[in-house]
Amino acid sequence: MKEEAIAILQRYGQNHLLNFLPLLNEEEIHNLEEQILHIDFEQLQKLYEKSKQSDMLEEKKIEHIPYIDKEKLSPQELKELEEVGKKIILEQKYAVVTMAGGQGTRLGHKGPKGTYSLSTIDGPKYIFEIIVDRLKKARQNYGVTIPWYVMTSRENHKETLEFMEKNEYFGYDKAKVKFFMQGELPLIDQEGKVILGQDKKIKEAADGNGGIYEAMFQNGILQDMKEKKIEWIFVSGIANILSNFVDPILVGLTIKQNHVIASKSVVKTNPKEKVGVFCKMNGKPKVIEYIDLPEEMAEQTDENGELLYGEVNIATHLFHYSVLENLANSKLPYHIAVKKSGYLTEKGEYIEPEGPNIYKFETFIFDAFVRYDDMTILRVKRQEEFAPVKNRTGNDSPETATKLYNAMLSKF
Ligand code: UTP
Repeated sequence: MKEEAIAILQRYGQNHLLNFLPLLNEEEIHNLEEQILHIDFEQLQKLYEKSKQSDMLEEKKIEHIPYIDKEKLSPQELKELEEVGKKIILEQKYAVVTMAGGQGTRLGHKGPKGTYSLSTIDGPKYIFEIIVDRLKKARQNYGVTIPWYVMTSRENHKETLEFMEKNEYFGYDKAKVKFFMQGELPLIDQEGKVILGQDKKIKEAADGNGGIYEAMFQNGILQDMKEKKIEWIFVSGIANILSNFVDPILVGLTIKQNHVIASKSVVKTNPKEKVGVFCKMNGKPKVIEYIDLPEEMAEQTDENGELLYGEVNIATHLFHYSVLENLANSKLPYHIAVKKSGYLTEKGEYIEPEGPNIYKFETFIFDAFVRYDDMTILRVKRQEEFAPVKNRTGNDSPETATKLYNAMLSKF
């Protein structure tokens, strides 16, 4: 192995990798060297050290965030907002991004989540197909083929592309679809050591959906949007099969409120529901995770008896182009997740652990919101716009999502 690579391993306490060399052939050693040279071990070490510290409690003032309830808007208001948003769509200033870089570990499907097939009343449909159906519907409604960008990760990029090619983009205009890969970070064990996978490479994984800002810039997506003169970009996750991502009312409302970021929310069903909610923290918009929301605040209600912190984040966001440009180079905070991952031992055995054994570092798309003074929150109906496919069974599973989807099918 090259001196340079060995020096890096020694500097960052990763020399255990040298014990694996007898298991590796020339090509595998070369691949490992390449990885060692590109990984930012300095950053990894800092992240590991941070995982050992408890979150230093800085002064955090949490307040309720104002929102607009779509249901309470008058037909006249809805019409006016729709007109504003429609104009943006008709002028081809609107684009859709689907975040599909996640691992989908909870679903346990072999392959990208978008290639999972659901039994709908229209027959079996892949999740990617469901998204395309909605884009095609917009093409029919507005006579405009909306550009569609799909964020993948190294793990699922090739498979995603092949799948879409094989299915001929489900009848969408291929020229309007672009895939871009997000960044990744190595997984580390609880001693801060990187691990090897079955392919004898250091195991790395997508760095969270907050990686979207950098990835859009690095992969020329921002440039492409600029050339197309796109002004508003809707971003949502692959898991929510009811994501209503062509929504002129949201665009109209955001423009009317003079904001550059917007999100949709649904009502939290009860104070204990394990979801992130919108709030203001130190005066800035923020999504607060359920574990960080003090119990008494989670229970607090307003004068109408509704939860004060009851606007659930469903990962459906609208950005003005300028936001994506601003955030292209900014660093978001990392969150640590303890996950389960198979690893290679120095004897060449591949072990699948029973429980969580590694740290994964992720950034979240909504952590950028605090950089802005305000944002638009539009409350929509859960049964109309939120049907996530996350778990294999039970809540938020293919079964529950398909039921909701079937009920909505005729409406969009
Ligand atoms: P989730 O938090 O549901 O993660 O992602 P996941 O990876 O899909 O599923 P689990 O936790 O392993 O079971 C929310 C959205 O963000 C995307 C996902 O594809 C999903 O649309 N995402 C997540 C990325 O695009 N990149 C990531 O690194 C993580």
